[in-house]
Amino acid sequence: MKLQNSTSPFAFWSKMFLIYVMLLYSVAKSTTAIATGNDTDRLALLKFKESISHDPHGILHMWNDSVHFCSWPGIACSRRHQRITALNLSDYSLHGTISPYIGNLSFIRSLDFIGNSFLGKMPQQVGRLFRLQYLDLNGNMLEGNIPVNLSYCSHLRMLDVGKNRLTGLIPRELGSLVKLKVLYLHSNNLTGGIPSSLGNISSLEQFSVALNNLIGSVPDELGRLKRLTLFAIGPNNLSGTIPFSIYNISSMLFFSIPVNQFNDTLPPTIGLTLPNLRRVHAGDNKFYGIIPRSFSNASQLRVLDMPGNNFVGQVPESLGMLRALRWLGLSTNSLGNYLPNGLDFITSLTNCSRMQIVDLSNNKFRGVVPSSIANFSPTLYNLYLGGNQISGNIPSVVENLTNLITLGLDQNLFTGVIPASLGKLKKLQALYLDARRKYSYKNHRLS
Ligand SMILES: *[C@@H]1O[C@H](CO)[C@@H](O)[C@H](O)[C@H]1NC(C)=O
Ligand SMILES: *[C@@H]1O[C@H](CO)[C@@H](O)[C@H](O)[C@H]1NC(C)=O
Ligand SMILES: *[C@@H]1O[C@H](CO)[C@@H](O)[C@H](O)[C@H]1NC(C)=O
Ligand SMILES: *[C@@H]1O[C@H](CO)[C@@H](O)[C@H](O)[C@H]1NC(C)=O
Ligand SMILES: *[C@@H]1O[C@H](CO)[C@@H](O)[C@H](O)[C@H]1NC(C)=O
Ligand SMILES: *[C@@H]1O[C@H](CO)[C@@H](O)[C@H](O)[C@H]1NC(C)=O
Ligand SMILES: *[C@@H]1O[C@H](CO)[C@@H](O)[C@H](O)[C@H]1NC(C)=O
Ligand SMILES: *[C@@H]1O[C@H](CO)[C@@H](O)[C@H](O)[C@H]1NC(C)=O
Ligand SMILES: *[C@@H]1O[C@H](CO)[C@@H](O)[C@H](O)[C@H]1NC(C)=O
Ligand SMILES: *[C@@H]1O[C@H](CO)[C@@H](O)[C@H](O)[C@H]1NC(C)=O
Ligand SMILES: *[C@@H]1O[C@H](CO)[C@@H](O)[C@H](O)[C@H]1NC(C)=O
Ligand SMILES: *[C@@H]1O[C@H](CO)[C@@H](O)[C@H](O)[C@H]1NC(C)=O
Repeated sequence: MKLQNSTSPFAFWSKMFLIYVMLLYSVAKSTTAIATGNDTDRLALLKFKESISHDPHGILHMWNDSVHFCSWPGIACSRRHQRITALNLSDYSLHGTISPYIGNLSFIRSLDFIGNSFLGKMPQQVGRLFRLQYLDLNGNMLEGNIPVNLSYCSHLRMLDVGKNRLTGLIPRELGSLVKLKVLYLHSNNLTGGIPSSLGNISSLEQFSVALNNLIGSVPDELGRLKRLTLFAIGPNNLSGTIPFSIYNISSMLFFSIPVNQFNDTLPPTIGLTLPNLRRVHAGDNKFYGIIPRSFSNASQLRVLDMPGNNFVGQVPESLGMLRALRWLGLSTNSLGNYLPNGLDFITSLTNCSRMQIVDLSNNKFRGVVPSSIANFSPTLYNLYLGGNQISGNIPSVVENLTNLITLGLDQNLFTGVIPASLGKLKKLQALYLDARRKYSYKNHRLS
């Protein structure tokens, strides 16, 4: 039918009729959309709204029948069936509880409540949301247990309940969420052990249970998580050894096990089997033995932070090959063995052109500070050598470390004068030269 270029009266009226039909059709379509918008979803939202006691941004005032609920703020619906597929109320500072009616939003795939103040328990009814793929409840005030029923949400890819007040055990049933890529349970008050069933989540890439009260050992089964990039299990009160199989997960980028009771050595091949490591945090454990030379094979390592252990021997010179290294934290170990040349490795560290923090305090270093420290990267801003038996003069070449903010030389055996050249360090904010102070390495942070 070619109407556009036609000028006959018949053609004109046919054209008008067609437009009329099209108009009617679109009116009918939008009316049915309102009529069939699922009432269960609407009711669930209204009940959800009722359980909110404080809404500082007034966002839920707009949840009223002047417009269809699919147009309410924070809601996304499927086009065809007008069913709710996403509820995103992130960072609205809502106070209240999560209504059990939420379990009736049976088409929902994504639920984002990060950064509110939801109190009370997570309702068991979330287990009915069998299409749910994304659940973010981070940074609320939820308490009680992690509902076992969550394990019915078998399509979940991302589960974040970090930074709440959750208590009780990590349900072993979570191991059935085999599509999970992200599992964040950190910063709660969870107790008991890490269930071995979590080793069944073969898609898992990011796992954090840091900052809880977990005890027991790390299950061997976690070594089956061959896609892990983030493994964060400390602070907690875990003990025993790290299963060897975990050092075989070559995808690992972020390995964080600090403030536990691990009593173990590091495998000599760690940098070969974990070649992609970016950050290692293993402080405040009971690791002993030497620092493996092979860390140098993890060529993208930025942070090696292992204070508060019982490492002995020499710091491997091979660390100087790590061109990305920014932070070397080895405070409060037994490194150096009181050998006269125990600080010679510092020369190799001057090759690390992005170095920012070097902390060698509270060890067994003896001898003089090599004058090669003048060649440290100008990016260095914290240098801690306190609490050793370092002797000789304070080298005047520290003047070349022009961006130093903190210099810790205290509790050593330095003699002679304080070099006037220290006055050239324009950015220096803290200089420790005292004989007895005991300071905490825990305050050292990488910016
Ligand atoms: C709305 O959805 C519920 C649950 O999926 C269903 O039982 C009910 O029949 C639906 N109602 C309408 C009007 O579509
Ligand atoms: C209902 O929501 C609309 C926005 O969708 C808003 O402009 C209106 O003020 C709301 N009505 C009430 C009574 O809160
Ligand atoms: C929720 O909304 C915020 C802000 O618009 C956005 O940054 C975030 O990605 C959204 N969440 C999801 C799951 O899409
Ligand atoms: C929705 O959920 C509530 C509470 O979980 C329940 O009482 C109610 O009957 C459910 N069904 C509908 C259709 O609203
Ligand atoms: C827990 O989840 C199951 C499976 O979806 C569901 O049948 C059950 O009703 C849920 N429990 C509650 C209390 O909603
Ligand atoms: C965590 O739980 C323990 C024992 O259940 C309790 O003593 C402690 O105060 C709790 N910590 C926090 C931060 O709630
Ligand atoms: C999951 O892991 C547990 C413990 O590791 C094991 O007993 C169970 O058989 C595994 N389940 C599946 C479905 O693989
Ligand atoms: C950690 O566990 C040990 C036993 O392994 C126990 O003696 C200690 O009190 C626990 N520490 C904390 C802070 O819970
Ligand atoms: C680590 O991987 C190597 C080769 O991929 C394998 O031979 C070895 O058995 C594995 N070790 C553990 C403890 O999984
Ligand atoms: C480490 O464990 C061994 C036994 O496995 C024990 O003899 C030793 O005392 C422990 N070391 C520390 C520091 O707890
Ligand atoms: C590991 O690094 C050392 C230098 O520290 C180097 O000699 C060796 O060839 C590297 N090994 C591999 C497998 O890259
Ligand atoms: C240290 O800085 C001085 C100038 O302040 C310069 O003359 C000297 O060459 C520098 N030494 C090294 C080793 O970079």
